[in-house]
Amino acid sequence: DIKAGIHTVTIAGGPLAFPCGKDDTILSGGLRAGIGLPHECLSGGCGKCYFDLAGGAVEDIWLEAKGLSPRARERGRRLACQSRPLGDCTIKLRPDPALAPPIRPARRPARLVSRRMLAPGMAEFAFAAEGAARFLPGQFALLQLPGVAGRRAYSMSNLANEDGRWEFVVRRVPGGAGTGRLFEMEEGAAVELDGPYGNAYLRTDTGRDIICIAGGSGLSPIISIARAAVADDELLEHRRITVFYGGRGPDDLCTTTFWQENRRLHTHAECHVAISDPTAAGAADWTGHRGFIHEIVQKVLASADMPNFDYYLCGPAPMVEALVELLETGASVPRGQIHYDSFF
Ligand code: FES
Repeated sequence: DIKAGIHTVTIAGGPLAFPCGKDDTILSGGLRAGIGLPHECLSGGCGKCYFDLAGGAVEDIWLEAKGLSPRARERGRRLACQSRPLGDCTIKLRPDPALAPPIRPARRPARLVSRRMLAPGMAEFAFAAEGAARFLPGQFALLQLPGVAGRRAYSMSNLANEDGRWEFVVRRVPGGAGTGRLFEMEEGAAVELDGPYGNAYLRTDTGRDIICIAGGSGLSPIISIARAAVADDELLEHRRITVFYGGRGPDDLCTTTFWQENRRLHTHAECHVAISDPTAAGAADWTGHRGFIHEIVQKVLASADMPNFDYYLCGPAPMVEALVELLETGASVPRGQIHYDSFF
């Protein structure tokens, strides 16, 4: 029976209800149904997907998820990305039509077809899946890796394509179970790929210049956005693209590969690369910028009309927080022009 294990989740106070399969969380079930449930990371970290349970019962996948305080949990609050319905249930939250997925996420089996090293501890992984790879530049997918509990979020670095090719630039996290497994996988290894997800995708219709800012492992979605922008002749006619990319030292960065391989990127995107640690290996010979990436952004854009750009950010929490502070508080950039997904 195809309906077995499918429960109905109703949003209290409105007409909206959606089916939720046994392998789905309330959040993924809602997004698959095209409903704009509030969310950002799908990983229990950002806290944006909270709801109150008004009826029925749910199972908590990860009780320690830091997106919810113990106090809120005691009061009966839950995270939609960490809750599976145990039967039909009713939830209290306010959907936001602006967060309805532009492409409905779906699960599919995929195989690792190649891995190439880009820098020490950083590689590009390519997976092949059946059907077209449909996603927007800047979005991410959840990978279920063999032998690893739970799913891990990785952003695509390539562009949507008919060949079913999904590429990810990933930095190995010391002691990280997900990236550790990924770097050990042999070509041909099977995974489950679920996506696309994410709200920090390229907006092509604003008419504003584009500023892309990546720190360390945040390069993947930023490269996808920059590739998409330079591939769009109409966009290039009116908009400039500037990329900032920072890491601790030269070994943390993959500085040239994509610019060497993509002539349009080389021609149309201005790129500023920075290192922040003068004691890192190779730092003495570094000829690029020095300093934290938000400092470099501030310096380079000092005389520019900062509120008039669209910003795309991806990187570690301190970097994103410093940038949001700089842009929103320091430079009065409207919040709607700063795009990032909090994976922390
Ligand atoms: Fe659930 Fe971020 S989407 S905590």
